[in-house]
Amino acid sequence: MIYNIAIDGPAGAGKSTIAKLTAKELGMIYIDTGAMYRAVAYYFDANDIDACDESSAKSACDNIDIDVIYENGVQQIILNGENITPKLRMEAIGKMASKVAKIGCVREKLVDIQRNLAKKESVIMDGRDIGTRVLPDADIKIYLTAGVSVRAKRRYDELAAKDIACDIKEIEEDIKNRDYEDMHRKISPLRQAEDALLIDTSDMDIREVVDRIKSIYEERRNG
Ligand code: DC
Repeated sequence: MIYNIAIDGPAGAGKSTIAKLTAKELGMIYIDTGAMYRAVAYYFDANDIDACDESSAKSACDNIDIDVIYENGVQQIILNGENITPKLRMEAIGKMASKVAKIGCVREKLVDIQRNLAKKESVIMDGRDIGTRVLPDADIKIYLTAGVSVRAKRRYDELAAKDIACDIKEIEEDIKNRDYEDMHRKISPLRQAEDALLIDTSDMDIREVVDRIKSIYEERRNG
């Protein structure tokens, strides 16, 4: 039987790390929907398309073909035949992604792909509108969050570990701006679904959060 878990929350709450590990331990497929918005952002960036210009955005939508495949269990995004997965994590692409995520035709296209994936297999899908729009009937909905300064510190530590110079105040500002854009857009803004369980990870480590979701899963399956 297909079983779907939706995880939503703001940038830097730990969604992808948590969802990836939980999916692995529960034998489910992890679907990173942010990567799909990043792929569209990559296309807009590479082709110099203004996300605010409606007609250019519409024709870009028609020219974008996105395929999601799995290699050794790891999600790969194929944009018009090219695997662009390694290019998607850059900060500039993340910023552009929150702009293209406001465009109606982009969201329609990606929501379709996401729903089709969840129909075929049991998935843990993370994003901003999974519980509210993509999978309103998901078996479990989680809203994962953490304080802004905690999220900024986590991002800072991640970059510092890779020897990338950064300023924690700037990161915090970026996170605040991204939260604002994601929570205030007209279409499918980020919000906690009424039936989602809130997990604040500010004082929790990865293991604790994964175990919490797994225990919710066990309770629901047995209850
Ligand atoms: O989770 P992320 O940072 O990779 O997401 C990139 C952007 O895509 C983020 O600013 C919001 C947007 N997004 C969205 O609007 N809906 C989703 N389901 C996933 C991401």
